[in-house]
Amino acid sequence: MSTPTLTRKPIAGDRLVFLGSFPDTVPVPGLPEVAFAGRSNVGKSSAINKLLGTNKAARVSSTPGRTQAVNLFEVEKRLVLADLPGYGFAKVPPEVQARWKDLVEGYLVEREPLRLAVVLLDPRRKPQDMDATLIWGLREARIPLLVLATKVDKLKRSKAAHQLKLLRKAYGLSVEECLAFSSLDGTGVKQAWKIIDAAVGG
Ligand code: GTP
Ligand code: MG
Repeated sequence: MSTPTLTRKPIAGDRLVFLGSFPDTVPVPGLPEVAFAGRSNVGKSSAINKLLGTNKAARVSSTPGRTQAVNLFEVEKRLVLADLPGYGFAKVPPEVQARWKDLVEGYLVEREPLRLAVVLLDPRRKPQDMDATLIWGLREARIPLLVLATKVDKLKRSKAAHQLKLLRKAYGLSVEECLAFSSLDGTGVKQAWKIIDAAVGG
């Protein structure tokens, strides 16, 4: 299969450029990369938009399974954000789920420029098998990890803090590796950028 080419469609001038949507082979733009992974509908695309300060970058939907390919966004000519397809949505046919799994696993394991994997979890849910598999897989591959416990706007502050503690314990995460996040009210955006900037080297 030939490697698809990058699109380079400006979203916000030079600052934010859509590089394309890749269902099979993902080209390597050559900048440090940060990937966003997690269950279908957990809020990966929303988090990317919030971090980029736009609602025009990644496609958000209340229908799980919206992101079906790896979407790449170039930011300030210094890093690339990768929006990965979500896993675990029962209504997606098994063969499609298997294809996404191959795409996501292949991307995460073999991606030379990958500097950080951001895993989104819903802190209202008990730790899930598939999330654990992803997190332990990243650890094994020695890929730096940031967990965003997202949609915390839906929880009371004390409940959110409690759930965060449980998540850290369940996945063996340090305080810096697991942040409360909300794409609605912007909780955690500054802290997440700090970690992303450090991971990509400035
Ligand atoms: P897939 O592409 O299907 O894997 O989903 P995704 O993980 O990219 O989720 P997406 O960003 O499309 O969001 C799914 C739904 O959750 C949408 O209806 C969003 O508006 C909502 N959502 C995402 N993040 C938040 C959040 O922080 N707070 C609240 N209240 N809703 C959110
Ligand atoms: Mg998405």
